[in-house]
Amino acid sequence: MPIPRSEYLSTVWKDDIFAGRVAFVTGGAGTICSAQTRALVYLGANACILGRNVEKTEAAAKDIATARPGAKVLGIGGCDVRDPESLKTAAERCAKELGAIDFVIAGAAGNFVAPMSGLSANGFKTVMDIDVLGTFNTIKATMPYLIESAKRNKNPSDDGLTGGRIIYVSASFHYTGTPLQSHVSAAKAAIDSLMASVSLEYGPYGVTSNVITPGGIANTEGMARLSSSKMTQKQIAAGVPIGRYGTIRDIADATVYLFSDAGNYVNGEVLVVDGAAWRLHNGA
Ligand code: HXC
Repeated sequence: MPIPRSEYLSTVWKDDIFAGRVAFVTGGAGTICSAQTRALVYLGANACILGRNVEKTEAAAKDIATARPGAKVLGIGGCDVRDPESLKTAAERCAKELGAIDFVIAGAAGNFVAPMSGLSANGFKTVMDIDVLGTFNTIKATMPYLIESAKRNKNPSDDGLTGGRIIYVSASFHYTGTPLQSHVSAAKAAIDSLMASVSLEYGPYGVTSNVITPGGIANTEGMARLSSSKMTQKQIAAGVPIGRYGTIRDIADATVYLFSDAGNYVNGEVLVVDGAAWRLHNGA
């Protein structure tokens, strides 16, 4: 049974606001990033999603393409964001087959729950490498295409179409410190910082950089990994000031806003989409 569009996207957006745009998404087969990609595809974009697992990535691409008749979604498996060459090759292929790279979502991440005492230097480094170096490699590989896209679609654009935009997917763990997540907290802090530098260096080229920080999003791999078995889902949701978990639609809508003509002047920002949960609960 296909999931209805209303699960992925609010009804406020116009159908064609991303017509002819191309999104390049690392970690695109994961729950959150595939929902972000699907929302863009609903609204007219084509996309290229990347992942390490070939079967999973190709299947996700096929599934996302069903969102809109005629949509092109390329699934590039076997791509490890820790390897700059594999990203460079993927970016070239995306530009060749889909014509451009207008939007980038740097979403590939690694996570496991571990106390400092159970974390080896290699365990720490692995998450830093996937999250931080992987994001750096993604930006380096796609920036030439983003600059071209920003040039073609000057902001604010005449036709309302945009290009040259990056969203980094982060977390709020480092705002207050989070036990069992020292490696991920350090990595996400670095991603926020990297975003800020890129926003300053490439803002003058028309390329915008912003972080989206999801809170606990229902039915995601991240939540499954992080939820304590001692707490029920209901107990966790009760700790969010808005009184519910986030949904993939909450994150997809934030993505559409930042990539749309409505987000033209937003650069160097962190958009936390968590119902204000971090203000109450981080580190608790
Ligand atoms: C302690 C661990 C561990 C664990 C792995 N390691 N799991 N240490 N506790 N549970 C250590 C290993 O022992 C090893 O160190 C080192 O990490 C590298 O492990 P590998 O398995 O060789 O690495 P690799 O195959 O590259 O896999 C990376 C991974 C894996 C991060 C460990 O889980 C992965 O591939 N994850 C990708 C998918 C993912 O994590 N998605 C979740 C994103 S969700 P030694 O010393 O033994 O060599 C997310 C949401 C957060 O980020 C926000 C929610 C609110």
